[in-house]
Amino acid sequence: MSVQAVEATASATVANLGVGFDILGMALQAPCDVVRAERSDAEGVQIVAITGDAGELSRDPTRNTAGIAAAYVLGQIGAAAGVRLTLHKGLPLASGLGSSAASAVAAAVAVNALFGEPLDHAALLAASLEGEAAVSGRHADNVAPSLFGGITLVLGAAAEAIYSLPVPPNLHLALATPAIAVPTAHARAVLPPSVPLKALVHQTGQVALLIHALYTGDLALLGAALEGDQVIEPARAHLMRGLAEVRAAARARGALGTVISGAGPTLCSLCDSEAVAERVAEAMREVYAELNLPAAIRVTQPALHGATWRAL
Ligand code: HSE
Repeated sequence: MSVQAVEATASATVANLGVGFDILGMALQAPCDVVRAERSDAEGVQIVAITGDAGELSRDPTRNTAGIAAAYVLGQIGAAAGVRLTLHKGLPLASGLGSSAASAVAAAVAVNALFGEPLDHAALLAASLEGEAAVSGRHADNVAPSLFGGITLVLGAAAEAIYSLPVPPNLHLALATPAIAVPTAHARAVLPPSVPLKALVHQTGQVALLIHALYTGDLALLGAALEGDQVIEPARAHLMRGLAEVRAAARARGALGTVISGAGPTLCSLCDSEAVAERVAEAMREVYAELNLPAAIRVTQPALHGATWRAL
């Protein structure tokens, strides 16, 4: 069945989870991007409006992650009709929360739904990645959890390379997004081109421990494992003002562990209850007030469901 207009919602994600650089990602319940798609007689993709971006994103569909993902879906479907998109950005831009991925996923899901869902999950992943790649590089650790939900192990761009991992039931998250610019390209450019064998052994051990912690639901172990990154965080830490202070304050209020979310600057503290997450959020506010650095603070939980859509 096809409809005239749909609205799709895709959530923010925390990529890497500390030690799992480019291979682990977790979907969040909030914030989310929303894409409304409607049929158009004009061919191709038009972006008619974007809200919530303070005018920063391009309305040119060939230069916008949502527009690129939507065009990819249209191409796969071989649709004669075009689509008009309206994008509402609930996610802050360049925040380390998978903003470009969420827009791409929401657009791909919306356009596919508009034409009766002819594409499967693998094709939607490819479409989303196409949009993401144009803006943030070709890595699926944000698009996969945003599309499928939960915590995902991402070993490639194909759907068979995505593994769903258990999400501990009590996990709550406190997130701080300070007002500092950390372009993903820059945060990737500072990384070492190779790592010593000793670091490789340590890093793989920490990833294995993290997976074990997820399967056993051992949150204390999870916190220890995700902070065990000796490769990526040390190279990026100088870009994340407040990291050491937030980590110490979060730990003092009961957080299990604190990591850079994706390429930053958002910091994410994992907590074993909502009450602890609220206390940690308060500690984050205090730290950034002390540093005189504006920061958006949120408390949320992992999202078990992936992107959703509804007919309008
Ligand atoms: N895994 C990526 C990184 C996420 O850390 O660079 C960025 O979106």
